[in-house]
Amino acid sequence: MKAQNSGKRYLGSALVFIGSYLLMMLVIFLMIVLNDFSHWTTFITHNFSQILSLLVSVFFLFGVVYFYYYFDDRTFLENPKDPFLVFTLLTVCAVICFLFGKYVNMDSRPFALFAILALFLLGRRQALFLNFIFVFLMFVIDLFTNTFVAAEISEEIYTSLLLGFISGTVSIFLVDNVRTRGGLLLAGVFLSIPIVVIVLLFNIPALTADLNWIKYIAAAGYRIMGSIVAVVLALALLPPFERAFNLLTGFRLRELTSTNAPLLKRLQEEAPGTFNHSLIVAQLAETCAVAIGENAELARTCAYYHDVGKLKQPECFTENQGDYNLHNEITPELSADIIRSHTRDGYELLIANHLPKAVADVALEHHGTLPIKYFYDKAMRYSGDADLKDFSYLGPIPHTKIAAIIMIADAAEAATRATQDRSPESVEKVCRAIIEERMDLGQFEECDITMKQLTVIKQTLVDALSGVHHHRVEYPAIQFNRDREVVRTAEEEPEDGSHS
Ligand SMILES: [Fe+2]
Ligand SMILES: [Fe+2]
Repeated sequence: MKAQNSGKRYLGSALVFIGSYLLMMLVIFLMIVLNDFSHWTTFITHNFSQILSLLVSVFFLFGVVYFYYYFDDRTFLENPKDPFLVFTLLTVCAVICFLFGKYVNMDSRPFALFAILALFLLGRRQALFLNFIFVFLMFVIDLFTNTFVAAEISEEIYTSLLLGFISGTVSIFLVDNVRTRGGLLLAGVFLSIPIVVIVLLFNIPALTADLNWIKYIAAAGYRIMGSIVAVVLALALLPPFERAFNLLTGFRLRELTSTNAPLLKRLQEEAPGTFNHSLIVAQLAETCAVAIGENAELARTCAYYHDVGKLKQPECFTENQGDYNLHNEITPELSADIIRSHTRDGYELLIANHLPKAVADVALEHHGTLPIKYFYDKAMRYSGDADLKDFSYLGPIPHTKIAAIIMIADAAEAATRATQDRSPESVEKVCRAIIEERMDLGQFEECDITMKQLTVIKQTLVDALSGVHHHRVEYPAIQFNRDREVVRTAEEEPEDGSHS
């Protein structure tokens, strides 16, 4: 039964693998036709063993990708969309390289494009591995199709293999820490430097022999062009890939947290109290994420959007209320219902606005199944009988560490805002109570957060919140009158601690 289930789990990915392979073969067939429109039939019939080698090699390369994930990270294959992204990237980049090779120059093929896209969409580890697959895929296409005429093959093909591998690998390390799309362009220029050096080194014997500088300078020029084109195309292709596969790159997260993001603009205008609260939660969540090694940018984005559900009825939430409080006029049951629906409303609003599911999930989970104590207590005082279920959030409980961080930071921000005493000792007490209560109520059972990480989060919040709400400087309570005579000494400081 278990084996049957696991078989079903990977069936979607296996179908994606077969479908992608067939699509790649169709693409290669079209490449052969376009390479020599009048003689492609002759090429295929006369080079049958070559075509067979091509079929087997591409199948082998795609198979290596599938089994890499099968043995290294099986969860990747559980959602067919993920392997579909990998195979789509391979196919799209192979087509782009072909078009540049065919219609511009073989040296201008933007080999690094695949590595850069894979880096941003899948991460460095996968990009490094998949870059091997991509350059070998291009090598196999060059070797077994009519891309090159037979005489050119040995020299050009191996140079392309080596340079493709080097430019891909260098681009992964060069581009990894780039924070802006402008910085990425600059990286493209730097990327071309090692490539040009290698091209010139390769050609030193030829250069000294025939002194045909123009040929080699042109080749180097096309290589530089290829590097810059790779970066420009990566910039152009990232957004459609991010949207089509609902992925979270650093660029996308930064766009989502910019002040121009439409939902944040609405939050700022329609629920300013919630907006300010979200900004502080974002700051806290980001620091906590860094402290436990989670994605800080994702934590910040999730915090910005965690309460957008309040946009439906902003005036029903304390932070946006003026003198009028709607809850004084309705039953505690109805109040609790309005309050708890902001998690579901937020989730639906975020999905409807095409925000990443990871961000929407946090909006849905940030109160877990916690009780809304204030209205439960109010109902108990009114009728003496209330079902806690009717006064609890509907969940689900956090299933990621980021959701757990937002749950804690959210409560810590609200609680410290409400208290007068913001000394580290008092903030520590508040944060500890928040975490312990959520543990008692089983809110962290679905996310694999450890006790050690919860302790780190607590300490980080204490440091940050005692920092956010600075102590007031203790002014001496001594007071003078008009004649500059002391009317109250420091010892006579009033009980409430107010200073003049
Ligand atoms: Fe909330
Ligand atoms: Fe909140």
